[in-house]
Amino acid sequence: MDAALRSLLDWYAEMGVDVPKVPPVRPVRAKKKPRETAARTAATSTAPTALVPAQKADLSKIKTLDALHAALTAFDAGPLSDGARQVVFARGNAEADLMVIGESPGRDEDNQGIPFAGASGQLLDRMLGAIALGPEDFYVTNVINWHLLKGRNPKPDDIELCRPFIEKHIELARPKILLLVGGLSMSALTGVTGIMKNHGQWQNVTVGGETYPALPLYHPAFLLRRPELKKDAWRDLLNLRETLLSL
Ligand code: URA
Repeated sequence: MDAALRSLLDWYAEMGVDVPKVPPVRPVRAKKKPRETAARTAATSTAPTALVPAQKADLSKIKTLDALHAALTAFDAGPLSDGARQVVFARGNAEADLMVIGESPGRDEDNQGIPFAGASGQLLDRMLGAIALGPEDFYVTNVINWHLLKGRNPKPDDIELCRPFIEKHIELARPKILLLVGGLSMSALTGVTGIMKNHGQWQNVTVGGETYPALPLYHPAFLLRRPELKKDAWRDLLNLRETLLSL
């Protein structure tokens, strides 16, 4: 048995699956959507050059992900970014059908400038890998783009400060499905509270005139503390997989 299969079976066991059941080998691949590719890759001069207070940030001229990244980097987030070395923007395939949205970067993410770069990211990747999703099949970002001082939890004001950016991010990436990882991500984008009762319950997120189906999932960091909940997470992941296959 090769190492990849062994690791997958170990994951099923960890998830509380009694009889290891390997999902069909057909991988869920991102379908290409028609896009303005040049516009997506070129950093344009539309990014604000001055430090603009968040409330007045005008992202209406931002047309590409690179420009959004540049705008975030130029943005003065005030005390929110006091504990951060850098902006943590995104990783993965921006053209994938699935956009994964976490909460806020930890120390590892701050050091590397990449979301979900630490232990919870490794678990997230394994969870998605268990439903045959590889790195090319999803795009990852967070509601909050800076590591918060001393790892404090985001407050409502922090979320509002970052809201224009995550909304624009969704609008530009145009995924088919959102995976909302953790209660904060769910409540920030849907208004629904209580991840214990709402994980696995499809919600709608409307941004820029488009409505996206969004599945709330337990945060991997929470699952690391509460492994008995992995069984529920597994069910939610299968639900996600079914929906992706039906696109
Ligand atoms: N937790 C998150 O929600 N996001 C990260 O990027 C890392 C940990």
